[in-house]
Amino acid sequence: MVEILAYRSLVKLLVLCHFISLVAVSTVEARIRHYRWEVKYEYKSPDCFKKLVITINGGTPGPKILAQQGDTIVVELKNSLLTENVAIHWHGIRQIGTPWSDGTEGVTQCPILPGDTFIYKFVVDRAGSYLYHAHYGIQREAGLYGSITVSVPNGESEPFAYDYDRGIILNDWFHKSTYEQAAGLSSIPFVWVGEPQSLLINGRGRFNCSLLATPSLEAGVCNATNPECSPYVLTVIPGKTYRLRIGSLTSLSALSFQIEGHNMTVVEADGHYVEPFETKNLYIYSGETYSVLVKASQDPSRNYWVTTNVVSRKPTTPTGLAILNYYPKYFKKSPPTLPTTGPLWNDTAPRLTQSLAVKAHKSFIHSPPLTSDKVIVLLNTQNKIDGYYRWSLNNVSFSLPHTPYLIALKENLNLNHVFDQTPPPENYDFKNYDIYAVAKNVNATSSNGIYRLKFNTTVDIILQNANTMTVNNSETHPWHLHGHDFWVLGYGTGKFDMKKDVGKYNLVNPIMKNTVPVHPYGWTALRFRADNPGVWAFHCHLESHFYMGMGVVFEAGVEKVGKLPSSVMGCGETKGFHRP
Ligand code: C2O
Ligand code: CU
Repeated sequence: MVEILAYRSLVKLLVLCHFISLVAVSTVEARIRHYRWEVKYEYKSPDCFKKLVITINGGTPGPKILAQQGDTIVVELKNSLLTENVAIHWHGIRQIGTPWSDGTEGVTQCPILPGDTFIYKFVVDRAGSYLYHAHYGIQREAGLYGSITVSVPNGESEPFAYDYDRGIILNDWFHKSTYEQAAGLSSIPFVWVGEPQSLLINGRGRFNCSLLATPSLEAGVCNATNPECSPYVLTVIPGKTYRLRIGSLTSLSALSFQIEGHNMTVVEADGHYVEPFETKNLYIYSGETYSVLVKASQDPSRNYWVTTNVVSRKPTTPTGLAILNYYPKYFKKSPPTLPTTGPLWNDTAPRLTQSLAVKAHKSFIHSPPLTSDKVIVLLNTQNKIDGYYRWSLNNVSFSLPHTPYLIALKENLNLNHVFDQTPPPENYDFKNYDIYAVAKNVNATSSNGIYRLKFNTTVDIILQNANTMTVNNSETHPWHLHGHDFWVLGYGTGKFDMKKDVGKYNLVNPIMKNTVPVHPYGWTALRFRADNPGVWAFHCHLESHFYMGMGVVFEAGVEKVGKLPSSVMGCGETKGFHRP
């Protein structure tokens, strides 16, 4: 009897110890999350039209990465594309201390060759909603993308409450392959990619198969009853509040997103808490993420449309559709109403209003430095160079070098062999330039030169939009910065005024983001600290625009970067370098 009692208390003690060690693991030691991914081409019908898409472990979008702040993510990526390179960027993750894991082909690494396995390893150091996607050529639009959700550390809470968390990735979808599109963009005569055939919500959309000629229908190329293109269904429990983590990875389109009969409260943007505001239409640009809270408070005896529409470009793409369903009902039929066609595509005012409404949450303000050490103004327009259409910044179109900058700078290669040592211009002729006139193409050049910033300095960037080479046309460009978040100091219309507009900067509660739009004929002002050692791309997040030269690169503190893994090497001037 005594023995049994002793045994019991020993067991209790062991259980208690085990419990204590579990607690210790989850609060003190961060976890390592290991993923094994295989990237390959497969036939899929995301919008009922069958085409070759790039999948990760058989899916597009790829697997969700779910982690907690402080965890280390290890992705062992096998390239099974047979004849095509790959690289994956972890969008919104700053890669502090691991700039070689940023996944930007040509900037931070050589591409991963067919048959090779590459290991990405990095820490997710801040809770929030992030994305990942291919960063090689215009490969992202072949379907190589997904989301990263980082939860707050144990014991920490967020400035809002909800019952359930759901992810929504928006995308636009083209039937032409990335090769056809890229070849067209870099051909004479120029062949534009055109408007997307459909919009996808969580990888599902609907193309009207009857628009195709009958032979392709007979060949099974388009099948409206294919379960792969049945709409995404969001099932909610009446009375509960849902946090929707919405991300856009469109190749071309700016979108609005709405849920019939339900308002959304915006609470997070690109990993930062937003001073909450309500909206019916959420405008979202490629590379942005937002969390919105939605209360399942409507009549549960019917279902509702969840819709997304193209804005800013004249849409020819049908509304993207998903369905909101109230548990325990499940309607086989579509909602009883007609889906909304969204806000007016060419009304910039409400989009600018939303941009201005996104401010830092009052308890989570990161105060920006009050002054900056350098101001770079980037005039966004188009050029024609040797007959090729290009996007340009201050009349310079960006091109990627064959040897990634990070390796060239870190391994002390002969830099003159790698990239243009003249940095791109920091301004344009703003006195004389008419942003409303058709771009005239004076002194249009192409370059792979970069901005070399002093480590730890504060840099302002003014994105100045202008007319394109088409009369009365200025587009929306979502700009994304790698390796940093920036403060969004202001937006405006017309030409930025160095005297008046600087005085109107929001230095009180600016939101920090990694992606921000510049609206047609408008300007956007950003500030960031060049405090992350490495080489970082800053570019328009539209696939065709970056491919056509709409980007720049910043270097800062590269001498502080640790030893590069040899796995990032093997291309250009690093050909002879050892690759495992
Ligand atoms: Cu999400 Cu350089 O991109
Ligand atoms: Cu653009």
